Amino acid sequence: MPFLELLTACLLGWAAASPRSVRVQPEFTRSLRTVSPRFLSVALDASLLRTDSLDLLRSQKLITLAKGLSPGYLRFGGTGADFILFEPSDQLSLPQEHGWESSRIEGTCLNTIPDDLEKYLTLLLALQAPVILKEQFQQDFKNITISERSVDILYSFANCSGLHLIFGLNALLRKKQAWDSSNAQKLLQYCAMRKYNMSWELGNEPNSFRKKAHIKIHGSQLGQDFEHLYNLLHTFKSFNHSGLYGPDIGQPGKRAIITLLKGLSSLFLKTGGNVLSAITWHHYYLNGRTASLKDFLNPQVLDSLILKINQIFEIASKIAPEKKVWLGETSSAFGGGAPDLSDKYVAGFMWLDKLGLSAKLGIDVVIRQALFGAGFYQLVDRTLDPLPDYWLSLIYKRLVGTRVLNVSAVHKDTADNGTLRVYMHCTNPNSYIYRNGSVTMFALNLSDQDKHILLCCSLFNKTIQYLLQPGDSRKGLYSQSVQLNGKLLKMVDRKTLPIITGKVLQPGKPIVLPALSYAFYVVQDAKAPACQ
Ligand SMILES: *[C@@H]1O[C@H](CO)[C@@H](O)[C@H](O)[C@H]1NC(C)=O
Ligand SMILES: *[C@@H]1O[C@H](CO)[C@@H](O)[C@H](O)[C@H]1NC(C)=O
Ligand SMILES: *[C@@H]1O[C@H](CO)[C@@H](O)[C@H](O)[C@H]1NC(C)=O
Ligand SMILES: *[C@@H]1O[C@H](CO)[C@@H](O)[C@H](O)[C@H]1NC(C)=O
Ligand SMILES: *[C@@H]1O[C@H](CO)[C@@H](O)[C@H](O)[C@H]1NC(C)=O
Ligand SMILES: *[C@@H]1O[C@H](CO)[C@@H](O)[C@H](O)[C@H]1NC(C)=O
Ligand SMILES: *[C@@H]1O[C@H](CO)[C@@H](O)[C@H](O)[C@H]1NC(C)=O
Ligand SMILES: *[C@@H]1O[C@H](CO)[C@@H](O)[C@H](O)[C@H]1NC(C)=O
Repeated sequence: MPFLELLTACLLGWAAASPRSVRVQPEFTRSLRTVSPRFLSVALDASLLRTDSLDLLRSQKLITLAKGLSPGYLRFGGTGADFILFEPSDQLSLPQEHGWESSRIEGTCLNTIPDDLEKYLTLLLALQAPVILKEQFQQDFKNITISERSVDILYSFANCSGLHLIFGLNALLRKKQAWDSSNAQKLLQYCAMRKYNMSWELGNEPNSFRKKAHIKIHGSQLGQDFEHLYNLLHTFKSFNHSGLYGPDIGQPGKRAIITLLKGLSSLFLKTGGNVLSAITWHHYYLNGRTASLKDFLNPQVLDSLILKINQIFEIASKIAPEKKVWLGETSSAFGGGAPDLSDKYVAGFMWLDKLGLSAKLGIDVVIRQALFGAGFYQLVDRTLDPLPDYWLSLIYKRLVGTRVLNVSAVHKDTADNGTLRVYMHCTNPNSYIYRNGSVTMFALNLSDQDKHILLCCSLFNKTIQYLLQPGDSRKGLYSQSVQLNGKLLKMVDRKTLPIITGKVLQPGKPIVLPALSYAFYVVQDAKAPACQ
């Protein structure tokens, strides 16, 4: 159909459309930007070391789930990382000691744990999780060691899952004012000896070191510490080109953070910005202790991220305009998440909106706290079953490509602005299913009414829907499972994820997004020039 006719048809459709309609206007000719292929990445909190369940990272089930999110980064960090000491073993360590030689399954993968051990470890984690969370909440941290074996488990998990490990080094080890790198050096030596290909961070939320450890670090000092680590990395052939990310500050707005970043600017000026591979900051919408269901569905809460992103770019553009900016640790609510919310279907609104907004506003990588662990905001629960946000992430990975398109939504009923949120990317070319030129739209309906989405090209072209709804209709938004197009999503077995299939919508009809749900739509023949 020629463009003009198409447009006319669209406009007529709009006039006759129901008041619950939303017209979506995409811009197909050019993309806004391209994000990293590892845009959606995940974290493990360093507090996992405080449990006796680290060996769960050798679970076949967890590895299968993590593989579904590849390519991505696996960040090992968080507040606990600044209390970790590496403890090299006394003996000259040979690979056999850790059971590598005899038991590896492929590449650098450690052998997986038997089912009964896995079961035992999940029970142990369930017992220990409340203690860990309490410690975190009270900011009561004690030093803890990480053994060679634990480093191996961590690296093996990342590597076997196709994730690139970023390890957060302890910045609270200090000699007078400066960072004391002697322990880090031992760890680097060990990892280099093992030929581990990994990247690094130094310090977690240094803006609150005073609160956590009664140490105040100035930005310029932190800059020198990063330079020190950078030089140290360059003494190792293996880490000559590895990434160094920082400064992992909390969210902007507080004066401490602005001062810290400004202090860091001398680092960028002096070294031409070479030292840091990307600038990282952290974001949570809410306090996990006080967050409510209403907050999770509130467009204003979702919009609060826009301000934070703009603030960070305002500073970054001054101190290091060419640097990529990462959301280096992020989730719905801090303090381990909001019980009964962060791990339920309703958390998907925040997660999907964060992914959409971040890409649109220029964030290169978003690292989700956490893949697995003691809190409530994980993608995989303590018994190793995937939660709704896991499935959402998996489908996002499959369908959403790196090129971001500009799209706006016009509500027919303007009083309803902001309750339907829409984002669009070129379809992931690695999905193999969809041809070049196709686009993936994702939308969330925060209102308690169904929404009719009018997307011009989709009226005439085949549109494939991936609608996610609560798996347990009795529990609704509190459901801990999720349905894809009416079918419950679950693993086929420990080694196999289900096939993710869409539903072809009838052309010529508006897309109906049910109340309080979210979905992806692939417009297969959009022929978007920006996506070819
Ligand atoms: C896993 O390790 C192998 C061998 O060291 C390396 O070639 C590969 O790049 C690693 N994969 C990831 C995702 O880091
Ligand atoms: C190390 O990993 C990075 C990121 O995955 C990759 O680009 C690089 O080629 C790897 N280096 C080696 C030596 O495998
Ligand atoms: C690191 O790389 C640079 C240039 O790529 C090289 O000159 C230097 O010798 C390398 N350092 C090590 C320790 O391999
Ligand atoms: C995106 O589209 C909106 C609405 O059409 C427009 O106002 C805005 O300027 C566009 N943004 C960019 C960066 O092109
Ligand atoms: C909704 O958006 C439209 C157009 O963008 C605007 O004219 C209208 O005032 C907005 N309504 C409300 C309630 O914000
Ligand atoms: C979503 O659907 C609900 C219920 O149908 C409706 O009340 C609400 O206005 C819709 N919200 C958006 C953003 O469309
Ligand atoms: C899809 O829409 C485009 C643009 O309107 C059109 O050129 C193409 O022929 C349509 N494809 C199909 C399969 O209808
Ligand atoms: C996408 O399709 C267009 C037109 O069919 C073609 O010119 C282009 O080379 C294709 N791009 C890729 C990456 O396959």
